[in-house]
Amino acid sequence: MFSDEVLIEELMYDILVAKNWYAEISGPQNFSSYTSTLLERLIFKLAKRWVSGSTNKDALSAGKNSNKRGISAILNFLGEDSIDSTTIDQTTAEYCLLLELLKTNGIHGCISVKPTQVGLRISYDTCLHNFRQIAEKAKSLGRFMWIDIESFQFVENTISIYLELLKNYDAMGVALQSYLKRSSSDLLHLLEEGAKVRLVKGAYRQNEANAFQSIDKINSNFSQLMKMLFENSGNTDIFAIATHDSRLINEAIELSEKFGTDKRFEFQLLMGIHDEMKKMLVERRFKVSEYIPYGSQWFPYSIRRIRERKRNILLLARSIIQP
Ligand code: FDA
Repeated sequence: MFSDEVLIEELMYDILVAKNWYAEISGPQNFSSYTSTLLERLIFKLAKRWVSGSTNKDALSAGKNSNKRGISAILNFLGEDSIDSTTIDQTTAEYCLLLELLKTNGIHGCISVKPTQVGLRISYDTCLHNFRQIAEKAKSLGRFMWIDIESFQFVENTISIYLELLKNYDAMGVALQSYLKRSSSDLLHLLEEGAKVRLVKGAYRQNEANAFQSIDKINSNFSQLMKMLFENSGNTDIFAIATHDSRLINEAIELSEKFGTDKRFEFQLLMGIHDEMKKMLVERRFKVSEYIPYGSQWFPYSIRRIRERKRNILLLARSIIQP
């Protein structure tokens, strides 16, 4: 990694640590005044390109815009690592409402939910219970639900919860990260169980024991897992290739030609990144979905996006130097 990247990354982690420390000593009221400090506002300036807004109305409007461009919407209510049961209940209710709103607004799309925003930090059973409520609502409205995958410590339980839910709710999928060394055996198991998988590279910091560190290895594992998906999925099985990496997207296109264009796979990309790629894929008649986050908890999501690309880190650095 370049030294300026390391510097800015460290700075951002310092911001996070300071933010948590300030929240702890000063309470939520003062914390909200802290959030308006200069650095966070600077990060917000960058975050706006990846986050549709603070309300579900903003997300629905972004979803309509995606549909107009021939793209399906995947709505995500931002939030993670919740241990407060009121927040968790509100999040569960928000997703149920969101599913209704997708339907009433005639938007082609679905939702994507993080296990730790619906209780996985509290317990397996709390999380399973809340997912069941959302899955029940999704089923009644004929909508699909994705489960995002988070840090390594939650992977085992996330897959297990997903497989438990899959017994009753067919229209569900789970993400899998190519940077994890365990993903190849997870994928084999998931495919045996008829799972629907979204393949991603992985966005969280992981240690060497569990995750490949070099981008080459992460990419080659992505290729390998992607091939497994094309080889082992029947024509009715849904799967998703979620990347902006043009080399991997081209590989997926080649695989789709080799294994038959009847496969029900789709490309998934994040809102605000590589719109021209989405357009090209739609023009080539591939199914494309756009992941659209919204809500007030934009900070951790945006930090992950900033870290993904050197240019984003430099943009942040520049705005710190020249506010
Ligand atoms: P890579 O990071 O190599 O980027 C390839 C190219 O894409 C870059 O060269 C650049 O041009 C562009 N690009 C990528 N990120 C950018 C950014 N932030 N800003 C501007 N340009 C950028 N992760 C996870 O751990 N769990 C999950 O559940 C999900 N879910 C998910 C859903 C969807 C629909 C997508 C697209 C991604 C995820 N991810 C995820 C995130 C994923 O793991 C990964 O961090 C990002 O997609 C970035 O990796 P790429 O595959 O795009 O490759």
